[in-house]
Amino acid sequence: MIGSAYRALPIVPHPTLSLPMISKRTQVGIVGAGPAGLLLARLLHRHSIESVILENRSRDYIEQRVRAGVLEQGTVDLLIAAGVGERLQKEGLVHHGIELRFGGAGHRIDLTRLSGGKSITVYGQQEVVKDLIKARLAACGELVFEVESVTLHDIESSAPRILFRSNGEEVELYCDAIAGCDGFHGVCRPSIPAGAFSIFERAYPFAWLGILAQDPPTRDELIYAYHERGFALYSMRSPQVTRLYLQVTPDEDLAAWPDERIWQELHARLEADSAWSLREGPILERGVTGMRSFVVEPMQHGRLFLAGDAAHIVPPTGAKGMNLAIADVFVLSQALREFFGSGRADLLDAYSQTCLRRVWRAEHFSWWMTSMLHRFPEDAFQQKLQRSQLDYVVSSRAAATSLAENYVGLPLARRLQPAEEIDEATTQLRPLPSIKEVLWNSDIA
Ligand code: FAD
Ligand code: DHB
Repeated sequence: MIGSAYRALPIVPHPTLSLPMISKRTQVGIVGAGPAGLLLARLLHRHSIESVILENRSRDYIEQRVRAGVLEQGTVDLLIAAGVGERLQKEGLVHHGIELRFGGAGHRIDLTRLSGGKSITVYGQQEVVKDLIKARLAACGELVFEVESVTLHDIESSAPRILFRSNGEEVELYCDAIAGCDGFHGVCRPSIPAGAFSIFERAYPFAWLGILAQDPPTRDELIYAYHERGFALYSMRSPQVTRLYLQVTPDEDLAAWPDERIWQELHARLEADSAWSLREGPILERGVTGMRSFVVEPMQHGRLFLAGDAAHIVPPTGAKGMNLAIADVFVLSQALREFFGSGRADLLDAYSQTCLRRVWRAEHFSWWMTSMLHRFPEDAFQQKLQRSQLDYVVSSRAAATSLAENYVGLPLARRLQPAEEIDEATTQLRPLPSIKEVLWNSDIA
């Protein structure tokens, strides 16, 4: 085994601050307790690899933060295999299709039929986070909330360190590897020296105004609406709560959107000429989310490995953000298992390359969905292209199949076993799949 279990080392003076500093050690230091950091810790725990998670917010804050809600088939399978799928299986809403609405009519895309039996599950990101935190604490794993002044050191060496402050104490955490799971605005990506990475990005001339409404959904499936007033999305979080989005300008002032205006706009864009009418309810939460595409390459430097939003951002159309974060840490957990188990570093060396294949597929899909469904200011040519593309997607089996395949998500692994399934022959827990089984292969002979 390479690396060593988490333990406190003697207190040593801080070299520059001359404050006493507590030195600790773990195998993998994880910065950020979003879906990426928490699931990575869970998967590593299943492989008997020690980790410490550092989060700069409180537990309450991250458990209440409203974000994504659509889980791909592979994400659901992985969460179940990791032993954190119990509530998801009970409370998640399984969907077999979506509706594309344009020109006054709705067109259903049958995701399950077109993808060979797959589906998506609507289950809030904060519910995934709650389940992972509960499992982490039940396993007595180290998870430190409200840390301050996190900095990374010696990431090019085999003994990288994370310095942080917690409860008024300075702590130095020695690691064998660091996982940067601290989101787009975190400290890990900026710790990579300039010149050691490239950035690829695109901005969009719009944003999403999202609301949560205390009102039971009156439709079973999501509606993506292309409308001359702008894009709108009908989604949900639970049998009691509806989630709705409107295309707005990037610098939109929420104060200019009283409840009546939000509902008026949602009615106009979502109902079009249909017999169905949107039901209003008390607005529980509202916010404006900017839209961008962003990828850093490579997603690693020395012993620092970036995962999730720390490495890439997609515009939300198509709901790929959290699913990509989860796919990254699956690949990273597999590579770390090989590294600590057999000393093989080739999978870790290939981490970025392995992830980027899926990342760019999702970047393309999210850009494509965004470009097809949003109103671009004063661009009549673009509008003609959009209508042509929408007509094609709802009338061609090949085009609809491509949308469905990407929407439900390309496979993460060829097989995933539930965590608690016992192998009768050996009475051992079945292992999670190995790296050889990871990722999709071409299905064209
Ligand atoms: P995050 O969830 O961002 O987690 C990073 C964690 O690191 C956070 O808990 C943060 O507090 C912590 N952190 C940051 N800096 C530090 C530091 N210095 N030290 C310690 N901890 C730190 N995706 C969809 O698919 N559908 C959606 O509808 C959707 N809506 C979104 C709405 C908003 C407002 C945002 C911001 C994102 C949305 N996304 C959506 C994207 C999706 O939520 C992200 O892709 C997903 O959260 C990525 O997970 P992550 O773990 O990589 O990062
Ligand atoms: C949701 C968000 C998305 O970006 C999307 O494409 C579908 C659903 C949601 O928050 O429910």
